[in-house]
Amino acid sequence: MRSVLVTGGAGFIGSNFIRHVLCEETIDRLVNLDALTYAGNLENLADCADDSRYCFVHGNICDRELVEKLFVEYAFDTVVNFAAESHVDRSITSPEIAFTTNALGTQTLLEAAKRFWKVDPSNKFSRDYREGVRFLQVSTDEVYGALGSTGTFRETTPLSPNSPYSASKAAADLMVGAYHRTFGFPANITRCSNNYGPYQFPEKLIPLLICNAQNNKPLPVYGDGLQVRDWIHVQDHCRAICAVLKNGQPGEVYNIGGDNGERTNLEIVHLILRKLGKPESLIIHIKDRPGHDRRYAIDHTKITRELHWKPQISFEEGIYRTIQWYMENSAWVERIMMGDYQIYCAEMYGSEIV
Ligand code: NAD
Ligand code: TYD
Repeated sequence: MRSVLVTGGAGFIGSNFIRHVLCEETIDRLVNLDALTYAGNLENLADCADDSRYCFVHGNICDRELVEKLFVEYAFDTVVNFAAESHVDRSITSPEIAFTTNALGTQTLLEAAKRFWKVDPSNKFSRDYREGVRFLQVSTDEVYGALGSTGTFRETTPLSPNSPYSASKAAADLMVGAYHRTFGFPANITRCSNNYGPYQFPEKLIPLLICNAQNNKPLPVYGDGLQVRDWIHVQDHCRAICAVLKNGQPGEVYNIGGDNGERTNLEIVHLILRKLGKPESLIIHIKDRPGHDRRYAIDHTKITRELHWKPQISFEEGIYRTIQWYMENSAWVERIMMGDYQIYCAEMYGSEIV
């Protein structure tokens, strides 16, 4: 990696990834292209802003002209595509926004990278690319759909997405696969389970629970709360992405999971209440999410066997560190709370939770 384009780097995982790469990897240039939607926050990267290798560009991955201009200017050899509308609930309210960014935006990036990386772009039969170039699509285990009470997702599990979010991510994955098979395009897809950790926007379960509990606000649990997620600390996810960039085989998909055992949402709620010393009376069960996936579980044998990556942060340690981070960064949370977030919460949960 010498010149890297990171998209969506002002969001939760992207900002953690940029910090990780600037500290741990040898690179000359890292450009962060981010549209700064409600989820994008330059404060997440305040400590990286003065690094001479880092450059922020405010723009949209669907903007073909801008994306091509950046390829000309920075001669990227690596693209890591995080940019997305990443929240299932918002994708249910606005499927078109999710599809536009997640599917069409990925297509725009793929086409620009193909054009600039091909040795002979005018020859449609040529499968030769510049030495060392790589496109990494950051995807999700949600593209596999929902599991029953047993079984795990493997890379060979058929895609069966249920929400507009996961369907748009699956569409992007299929396009990445098509570019690899049709054009020999050097791409990888990573499919990770639910992340948690610092800088996660408080619309997602774990930061929402921490922030609400700290402020003695109700903790909204969808339906019976017995849905199961495979939680992974964001730093383990970032290390896995670096492992794929370094040694992943072109065209391969790699599942990434946290090895943290199976936990229901209700178990997470009780754990956070205990850690914060707050009463269980804060829990309220609300109407379930439409099409709510019951259970996810990842089998990450492939990346462990082939690239020697495995998660290092246990859920006990990770959740402790995350709670600490939110307690020490209450000003970061408060600035988000002052924006449109209150309106979102009122529309999503009703006035009793705001
Ligand atoms: P996030 O919502 O925190 O951040 C998304 C970022 O993308 C924001 O900075 C936003 O401004 C930017 N963005 C949105 N639309 C854009 C556009 N059209 N052009 C440029 N930038 C745009 O998301 P996250 O949780 O950090 O997720 C990052 C990626 O990882 C996503 O692709 C998501 O599907 C994937 N993923 C997330 C999880 C998870 O648990 N959060 C798990 C697996 C995979
Ligand atoms: P979320 O963090 O939105 O991630 P995803 O839907 O991508 O898995 O939600 C995680 C789980 O928590 C999911 O089963 C939905 C549930 N949930 C609640 O019960 N209450 C909430 O307020 C939120 C945001 C999520």
